[in-house]
Amino acid sequence: MKKIFAVSNHKGGVGKTTSTVNIGAALALKNFKVLLIDLDSQANLTQSLGIKNPDYNIYDYLRGRTPILPIEAKNNLYVIPSTLDLAAAELELNSEPGREYILKEIIKQTDSSFDYVLIDCPPSLGLLTINALTAAHRVIIPLQAEFLPLKGLAKLNEVIEKIKLRLNPDLEIGGVLFTQYDQRKIMNKEISQNIKAVFGNKIFETTISNNVALAEAPGEGKDIFHYNKSCRGALDYKTLCDEIINLEVNYG
Ligand SMILES: Nc1ncnc2c1ncn2[C@@H]1O[C@H](COP(=O)(O)OP(=O)(O)OP(=O)(O)O)[C@@H](O)[C@H]1O
Ligand SMILES: [Mg+2]
Repeated sequence: MKKIFAVSNHKGGVGKTTSTVNIGAALALKNFKVLLIDLDSQANLTQSLGIKNPDYNIYDYLRGRTPILPIEAKNNLYVIPSTLDLAAAELELNSEPGREYILKEIIKQTDSSFDYVLIDCPPSLGLLTINALTAAHRVIIPLQAEFLPLKGLAKLNEVIEKIKLRLNPDLEIGGVLFTQYDQRKIMNKEISQNIKAVFGNKIFETTISNNVALAEAPGEGKDIFHYNKSCRGALDYKTLCDEIINLEVNYG
């Protein structure tokens, strides 16, 4: 049974890609078989794992190409890469019947031996993100504690609620994840109250520190564990991985 997580926040640069790669790598090191799907035309996840010029990418599969052939990036860690062409997909898929379910179908067709599927969403709430949320059991919402406009959070929550109602009743919030977190700064009370007002107690206990190694690793085409397994960022993502494994979920 694949456990499917969408990593989503329409705000840019909050740590979606970094979290997808490193949660995935942590799960793979624990011997789970993991599939990462790059659903962003920026293709940051693809690049950050050193994948260049893949034969097929998520755009081909969204347009109907089969069979689905993920690339093995590391032991236990597989990737469906992205491409700039994906920017066109949103428009092209608009007229497809069942356009919100295309990614769900793709995941269904992947090998049944995958334990976890993690989807790196683009910084928008368009059709691609809707596809991710329709396919997922859980959504992980990375946030930087410094800027948190309540309006933005409420919008994201509204989309999640609508998808739950109309497209995917099983969808739940896995948790809000604080990234690029500076322990020395005490989190603004107003900010934490805003988050609780929107997402209740669905906040991961683990926070991800601001750690330069996390920003350097993608340039080497590596996840944090292969770049520097004892740095703060690696320890944080390892702890988060344990928290995710222990999430009480019905993956229905
Ligand atoms: N914990 C961290 N410490 C230091 N740098 C980080 C951390 N997390 C992410 N970064 C850096 O911050 C930048 C944004 O991170 P990332 O690409 O993961 O965000 P994103 O939400 O996927 O962005 P986008 O919305 O553009 O897809 C990147 O340069 C990344 O290397
Ligand atoms: Mg990204």
